[in-house]
Amino acid sequence: MAHKKVLSTLLIAVVFPVLANAQEAESHPTYANEVSRIIQDNCQICHQPGNIGPMSFTSYEEVRPWAPLIQLRVANREMPPYHYDTDTGIQQLKNDWRMSQEDIDTVVAWVNAGSPLGNPENLPQPKIFPDMDDWRFADELGQPDHTIKSTAWDVPAEGQDLWWKPVVESGIDESRCIKAVETRPSAAAIGSTHHANSHFKVLNDDGEWVNGDRLSEFAIGKLGEKVPEGACRRIPANSMVEFEVHYFPDGNAVPNDQVTVGIWYFDEEDEFDEEESYPQDLGAYFLSGGTDYMVPPHGTLMTQGFRSWDHPVRIDSWQPHMHLRGVAMKMELLNPRTGRTEVLSQASNWTSAWNHSHTYEEGYQPLIPAGATLILTAWYDNTENNPMNPDPDQWVGSGQRTTDEMSHAWVAVSHLDQEQYEQLLAERKERDNNNVASHGGAR
Ligand code: HEC
Repeated sequence: MAHKKVLSTLLIAVVFPVLANAQEAESHPTYANEVSRIIQDNCQICHQPGNIGPMSFTSYEEVRPWAPLIQLRVANREMPPYHYDTDTGIQQLKNDWRMSQEDIDTVVAWVNAGSPLGNPENLPQPKIFPDMDDWRFADELGQPDHTIKSTAWDVPAEGQDLWWKPVVESGIDESRCIKAVETRPSAAAIGSTHHANSHFKVLNDDGEWVNGDRLSEFAIGKLGEKVPEGACRRIPANSMVEFEVHYFPDGNAVPNDQVTVGIWYFDEEDEFDEEESYPQDLGAYFLSGGTDYMVPPHGTLMTQGFRSWDHPVRIDSWQPHMHLRGVAMKMELLNPRTGRTEVLSQASNWTSAWNHSHTYEEGYQPLIPAGATLILTAWYDNTENNPMNPDPDQWVGSGQRTTDEMSHAWVAVSHLDQEQYEQLLAERKERDNNNVASHGGAR
């Protein structure tokens, strides 16, 4: 029987190292297995030929040379560009580009292992992206009922960032509730149109054109916006629209470029009862520093602004807006009944290179009781540590120019009466109770 023992020892000695090797091979991610899929889902929408990403990530050969920089940008949550804290505030967001921590860890481990390809047979099929020449909502909603175009503008091939702010007539002659809105850059300028925001201008009682509600917001890769359930977002008739287009020349000149906003209305076929709906506006814009502040040269500053309503409201989205010295923003709710402050949303790595409207998922929009206060806090960094800072030697006050500062948030607000507010609260309570029940009480 002795020979059996020898045999098994031999087996262990020979087989074990092979197994250990196999296990090691599996213990780090490969491009073919995991990373290609992560890059497809999170990066290629921008990092493909002709799009705004400065390099293309559609194959191992294209991705591999950038691996160390990819690791850095992904680990710091700078790419994909979506600046919203993961550890505080409401986390249920629509069109959320943030990567899961698990995927981030996979990318980091892959680069640490030397960015291996792995077995090419495991590579996924190439991902097909939507045609940039048509509306993203076209499949679902058809062509828009109304379109508004920016004034034509020649995008140069080379040069610095450009901001183009034309004002055009909206062509809207009747104030209606809208179902959806989408902004589309031209296909030719898709590689240079970084973002494109627009808002209404309306006549005030003194006959002056003043800024009205926000209309739409575009950043590449993003769908348009649908108005949340039960809300009526009425758009103003006889208004003007001001665009704010941020171009980033990408080597291709585009003469006569135009950005188009498409609007879909509710019509009779839709089951939509205007009388029953909550009026929603996007103009509940609040300044966090007023206009009376100065950020000192080589210095930093924090300012706060406050907002409350005499009736309950539901906040449907939040979009920080600052300029080059702005680096972070936070929105909190101070509830006078409890005396407690709660963070609703925070972007502590905000950058003016990207503009996003964060839309809360249905059922997770903050409900604000009458008389409660929203607090908006903004932070500015005028030192050379801020990579967006063009000149730390300047005093910077608030103003319209890119080099002036701004600090406000656009918040979409649905106005509720007390009964609607209590109804929404009750629905959430029921949902949360059901969740607790189905998870065995553990929360
Ligand atoms: C919404 C479009 C978009 C998405 C999605 C996106 N990128 Fe980018 N990326 C850009 C643009 C535009 C730039 C150049 C400007 C900048 O750095 O902000 C860039 C720059 C980069 C750079 C170069 C940074 C440098 O310092 O030169 C890397 C690396 C990068 N992206 C990696 C990624 C990875 C990895 C993903 C996915 C996990 C990703 N990006 C997703 C648009 C995008």
